[in-house]
Amino acid sequence: MIFTVAIDGPAAAGKGTISRAVAAAFGLPHLDTGLLYRAVGALVAEGAEPAAAARALTPANLARDDLRSAAAGQAASRVAAIPEVRAALLEFQRRFARAEGGAVLDGRDIGTVICPEAEVKLYVTASPEVRARRRWLELGGDAAPLPFDRVLAEVRERDARDMGRADAPLRPAADAVILDTTELTAEEAVARAVALVAERRGC
Ligand code: DC
Repeated sequence: MIFTVAIDGPAAAGKGTISRAVAAAFGLPHLDTGLLYRAVGALVAEGAEPAAAARALTPANLARDDLRSAAAGQAASRVAAIPEVRAALLEFQRRFARAEGGAVLDGRDIGTVICPEAEVKLYVTASPEVRARRRWLELGGDAAPLPFDRVLAEVRERDARDMGRADAPLRPAADAVILDTTELTAEEAVARAVALVAERRGC
């Protein structure tokens, strides 16, 4: 059975938490596609040519432990605007999405470009202020290396770049279910996503 769950949305909206929970609930493999762009961004920061880095990506590149930082997110967002980088990563993501048994993928263009035929499409969003607050708390709150205003500015900057690029911009697919997590706890957001997938799977 092929059953793809496409989860898109802006940074820090809760995509990762929801995707991991949905994958665990239904025993599906999960691909965090942001990690691919983060790994390319990190290689480019070390001097690699973007498209060549994307074509030569290895599991070891994805396993490095410096890909979760705010700087890695910004670097990812910059290389993600390069069409040749996106093209180099397309086939791998498509194959993962349509593998027998099903899959959960989260990113920015899964429901629109990578897998428009996905059986479930979720667009997870939240206000920029709430997303920035969550990111700031993750970074340590008052002990965070960045003040809240800087985190908010970075969230807005990344939104503008991800939504404004010409190739595969971030936007909800026409048939996506919008899940606004601004007023939801993580548990509530996960419960809604799991219920939607269960309904579509008929289980
Ligand atoms: O989901 P994330 O924060 O790890 O993603 C990092 C950046 O990678 C994001 O700002 C834009 C880019 N990205 C993308 O363009 N397309 C995807 N499918 C996933 C991520």
